[in-house]
Amino acid sequence: MRKKIIAGNWKMNKTVAEALALVDGLKAELASCMDVEVVVCPPFTALKSVGDVLAGTQIKLGCQNMSSEDDGAYTGEISHAMLRDLSVKYVILGHSERREYYKETDFWVNKKVKKALEKNLRPIVCVGEKLADRESGNTEKVVEEQIRGSLAGITAEQFENVVVAYEPVWAIGTGKTATSEQAQEVHAFIRSIIRDMVGEKAAKGLRIQYGGSMKASNAKELLSQPDIDGGLIGGAALEARSFVDIVKAGI
Ligand code: PGA
Repeated sequence: MRKKIIAGNWKMNKTVAEALALVDGLKAELASCMDVEVVVCPPFTALKSVGDVLAGTQIKLGCQNMSSEDDGAYTGEISHAMLRDLSVKYVILGHSERREYYKETDFWVNKKVKKALEKNLRPIVCVGEKLADRESGNTEKVVEEQIRGSLAGITAEQFENVVVAYEPVWAIGTGKTATSEQAQEVHAFIRSIIRDMVGEKAAKGLRIQYGGSMKASNAKELLSQPDIDGGLIGGAALEARSFVDIVKAGI
């Protein structure tokens, strides 16, 4: 049985004061939630404050990117050690916004995934097709390439600490959600690729989140699909009520 995992990706939103207000609201309802794994991923600048408030609760801390290097002359980057310092457990890697605006390729995502696993951080690895890919019938081809590229060289044992997020780019922040059938189809396909890469046990254990305009009103149906094991939530994670309702839909 895979435990569902709902993560909030706050993106470039929330000052420290705003982050604390949001996390207070989440803590009030989810501090002892054990049925679903709950993760919040604030911007780097709010990690310390949010982490302090979450200490001793069941809500875990994540972040939105990480350097593939250990330390040194990499202006503007944040290392695994800096994140571990702040009790970060999860790191979102290869989000489509990073692939699109910062030209992150599968090669770099793979380097970061390997570094994260080596340093005991759990990667949430994002993949997903663009609208043009879907319309030209290339969804599976694009997703397979991203999965094989981003997760190259990861062993079956390491997969226990990996989460994959399937986020069709055309559904992110657009209000257009993939139907539960469309999402389920790609999730099952991703699991079949993982099975081919590292075997049945790792494929069965892998949690695959859906992301892209997930909200309280569509969460239950998406989360009831056999291969959808959680959600990566953007817009609806910026407000306590809607995020809590999505978590509750997963229970
Ligand atoms: P959205 O974003 O929920 O606002 O569509 C999801 C994501 O980008 O992770």
